[in-house]
Amino acid sequence: MIVAVLNSKGGVGKTTTALNLAIGRALEGRRVLAVDGDRQGSLLAAIAQREGRTPAIASAQYTDGQVLRQQVGLAKSVYDDIVIDAGGRDNSCLRAAMLLADLVVIPFVPRAYDVWALEDMQELLAEGRCVKDIDAACFLTMADPRGADNQEAASQIPAGMRALAVMVGRRKAIAESAGQGMSMLEQPGRDGKAAAELGALVAAVFH
Ligand SMILES: Nc1ncnc2c1ncn2[C@@H]1O[C@H](COP(=O)(O)OP(=O)(O)O)[C@@H](O)[C@H]1O
Ligand SMILES: [Mg+2]
Repeated sequence: MIVAVLNSKGGVGKTTTALNLAIGRALEGRRVLAVDGDRQGSLLAAIAQREGRTPAIASAQYTDGQVLRQQVGLAKSVYDDIVIDAGGRDNSCLRAAMLLADLVVIPFVPRAYDVWALEDMQELLAEGRCVKDIDAACFLTMADPRGADNQEAASQIPAGMRALAVMVGRRKAIAESAGQGMSMLEQPGRDGKAAAELGALVAAVFH
């Protein structure tokens, strides 16, 4: 399955999500390719830190949409799952990933600017749907431990994307482990709640 983690807004947890989805599937024994479509190369850098660690995750970076489309097209016969992190701007990689994906996953943060940014994704999806049918699903990440903001943000999801029935909290352990190229799914003892949330995310996306 090809999953593209997309949001034209930066800092919403795309790279963290892509890393966790890739590792989550690799832990299930799937052959996974993680594709970094962001010039910043954070996903590639995170995975490079896994040197010697299992499961090993193959990764590649493409910063040109046409090359990304071509290479992912070739790789899909070799890998069970391909997870694409397409960076924060509305660029050629984002569009290519959107059209390649079996599912577009859109993380968003329960804050006003982030919720408004979903409308930008709605427009991009509408453009893409002139070319092909696109399944798109969003989920709340960096959610607050309490308060009404999560629910309010969830109620403002625009048409054209479904909501995954999962929520990932704002958790230090998730950010820290991602910085080491790891997922909390590999070290559930460190933060069981974080691991449970990420496990539910992997299941909602792939099953
Ligand atoms: N669930 C989370 N809890 C806490 N911090 C998070 C979480 N997800 C991401 N972060 C942090 O938020 C920042 C932005 O995340 P990142 O995945 O780089 O977003 P993007 O790729 O959309 O720019 C990073 O510093 C990351 O460590
Ligand atoms: Mg990123």
